[in-house]
Amino acid sequence: MSTAGKVIKCRAAVAWEPDQPVVIEEIEVAPPLASEVRIQIVATSVCHTDLYHLLESMNKEGFPTVLGHEGGGIVESVGPGVTEFQPGDKVIPHFITQCRECRFCKSPRTNQCEKAWTRVRQEIMAGVESRFTCKGKRIHQFMGLGTFSEYTVINQIAVTKIDPAAPLDKVCLLGCGICTGYGAAVNTAKVEPDSTCAVFGLGAVGLAAVMGCKAAGAKRIIAVDVNPDKAEKAKVFGATDFVNPKDHSKPIHEVIAGMTNGGVDFSLECVGNVEVMRSALESSLEAWGVSVIVGWTDMYDVAIRPGHLICGRTWKGSVFGGFKAKDGVAGMVKAYLEKKVKVDEFITHNMALDQINEAIELMKNGKCIRAIVNVSPQ
Ligand SMILES: NC(=O)c1ccc[n+]([C@@H]2O[C@H](COP(=O)([O-])OP(=O)(O)OC[C@H]3O[C@@H](n4cnc5c(N)ncnc54)[C@H](O)[C@@H]3O)[C@@H](O)[C@H]2O)c1
Ligand SMILES: [Zn+2]
Ligand SMILES: [Zn+2]
Repeated sequence: MSTAGKVIKCRAAVAWEPDQPVVIEEIEVAPPLASEVRIQIVATSVCHTDLYHLLESMNKEGFPTVLGHEGGGIVESVGPGVTEFQPGDKVIPHFITQCRECRFCKSPRTNQCEKAWTRVRQEIMAGVESRFTCKGKRIHQFMGLGTFSEYTVINQIAVTKIDPAAPLDKVCLLGCGICTGYGAAVNTAKVEPDSTCAVFGLGAVGLAAVMGCKAAGAKRIIAVDVNPDKAEKAKVFGATDFVNPKDHSKPIHEVIAGMTNGGVDFSLECVGNVEVMRSALESSLEAWGVSVIVGWTDMYDVAIRPGHLICGRTWKGSVFGGFKAKDGVAGMVKAYLEKKVKVDEFITHNMALDQINEAIELMKNGKCIRAIVNVSPQ
């Protein structure tokens, strides 16, 4: 029996409050309104930004919420006026939008979109509207999505139709971490052939940045992490060196300067730590180094000396790897199917929705790169 036009009752992992495990609950998912699609989530993964909102941020707004923003699914039904999608389409939702009509979407200089939820109330890490309720309470959809649920409703400007040949339990990772790191190297830093690079933080985002540096032709890629377990994995994606700051008494930027005749051409911070952001900047060559902030935190200001920039360094930030969301996701799925980018190699665990707290713990303890959570196994 068709579920179109009806409320769907399904299972979701609800984060009722910060700093607590999420709870599998039955939630109600309303039918899609105009311009929206309702999606059955097949697979999702935990990104550090979910963890940040649940456990780390000092801002405790935005609860209760259904976390999850790195997912893939199948369109169940569409709201009035939706022509781009049909029931049965394979899709990847994204936390940034691409309406194709606003001045940002029309400019090649940004991947921001004026219709993004972040432009309304960023501090709750969700849009102001939600189609989720549970026990009579409205539940936020984290980053406008909420993929830790069997069904979700998302505006069509935050959804991309993908090649039906793509396996959702793999390419769901292109919804955030891989595009973010890869694009930060290729699109934002614009890494050049024969250059030297340093990538700080070797989660999925940093490893994807390593992969991007290699794809761009970098000759030396120094991977930096305080967790020695990440060294082997970094080589898989193209790192030529691994440096653990804990193994050195000197500041890490001095170690890197010593290895590279003064500093790297490109550095990328993929941790979300303001001290590391400064180290990454200082690790880049004073004369022309480009340093990109990819990691996320809103807890502290970041300090530098003007002299760090004045001689020629450039400091940039990057959201979703600078990719315009729909174009970027479609392109990266194609690149995966053509074996031009790695995705499977990021997956270290596979689990079911009711094990989602395990997936969160694995990431918290640095024991996974990405754990795939099979929300609605096909
Ligand atoms: N800009 C964006 O669009 C965007 C998108 C996704 C994620 N993020 C952010 O990117 C960051 C990384 O996400 P992830 O999912 O890869 O996280 P992760 O937790 O899997 O990886 C972080 C890595 O940093 C390492 N690390 C911690 N402290 C360090 C230090 N002092 N020096 C060197 N390495 C250190 C950890 O050992 C770990 O390997 C997070 O801050 C996340 O919120 C940003
Ligand atoms: Zn993410
Ligand atoms: Zn737009």
